Amino acid sequence: MSAVRVGLLGLGTVGAGTINLLQRNNDEIARRAGRNIDVVSAAARHLDRPRACSTDGIRLTTDPFSIVDDPETEIVLELIGGYEPARELVLRAIDNGKHVVTANKALIAKHGNEIFERARDRGVTVSFEAAVAGGIPIIKSIREGLTGNRIQWLAGIINGTANYILSEMYYNSREFAEVLAEAQRLGYAEADPSFDVEGVDAAHKLTILASIAFGIPLQFDKVHVEGIGHVSREDVAYAEELGYRIKHLGMCKWTEDGVELRVHPTLLPERQLLANVDGVMNAIMVMGDAVGPTLYYGAGAGAAPTASAVVADLVDVVREFNVEPESRVPYLAFQSTALSDQPV
Ligand code: HSE
Repeated sequence: MSAVRVGLLGLGTVGAGTINLLQRNNDEIARRAGRNIDVVSAAARHLDRPRACSTDGIRLTTDPFSIVDDPETEIVLELIGGYEPARELVLRAIDNGKHVVTANKALIAKHGNEIFERARDRGVTVSFEAAVAGGIPIIKSIREGLTGNRIQWLAGIINGTANYILSEMYYNSREFAEVLAEAQRLGYAEADPSFDVEGVDAAHKLTILASIAFGIPLQFDKVHVEGIGHVSREDVAYAEELGYRIKHLGMCKWTEDGVELRVHPTLLPERQLLANVDGVMNAIMVMGDAVGPTLYYGAGAGAAPTASAVVADLVDVVREFNVEPESRVPYLAFQSTALSDQPV
């Protein structure tokens, strides 16, 4: 069977991470998807920049519209980020009958209602696992694993950069600005890092989580948003003396009067699980009426963890839409009969 042709928009941290992961785990990914997944074209703002991945065999262009308009492109992978031109590109890809995979939380939180409606009309899918909590499969967990539950509330650390800054202030008494610059160097921060610091990125993600958890339209403008910009080393140290940690949380709760959406720094008793989630790690507690509390933990930002979620969506799309039903690979597909007799 021929390879699925993917057109990639954006060759930054996550774009390069995705190419690397597709190349590194090519055999396993093809086995699970039922077809090889090939990135055949990629759009970047500058073509002469050094890249963190090999682009051999990939057609490079500075014109992303040439990719979404290319009849050869089967799946558009939108990793540009931001509201525009991402919105226009995604809508055009949908109009052209292409499935879309995106890591763009800003786009989904703000324009998701319009995008999903257009995708429904056109019979294509838009997947966005990588938009929330990096490598943690939180969208799939809520949508699939908890689908029998009424979700009562969820609360979590959903911005890796903010958590990294707060952790470094706590453990190493480092200055805010210095740690933020490091988070940017490590590829954790947004292109506009004020989104991380001011809570906007967490609000984008909370908007998406609330929509999935409660089945409500995306309502980014309803989130109460506070960032960590005014949290000082002294605040962090004072909280510690009192037995608390300061964590930046996103929270949403079902109430009689409607859903409450809040993002702000929060004092957590130091023995709480979420108080001990450090560095770039994210963690989300989800309370279901049947299952009770559940906890999801993992890297919330960075090239490889985010690529892990992007590739999961790509495989899902290929399994669902780009493979004949009779060729579909069962989930429990044996890869090897070898068992180690070494103790674990
Ligand atoms: N800037 C984001 C964060 C990237 O730090 O969490 C992952 O969404």
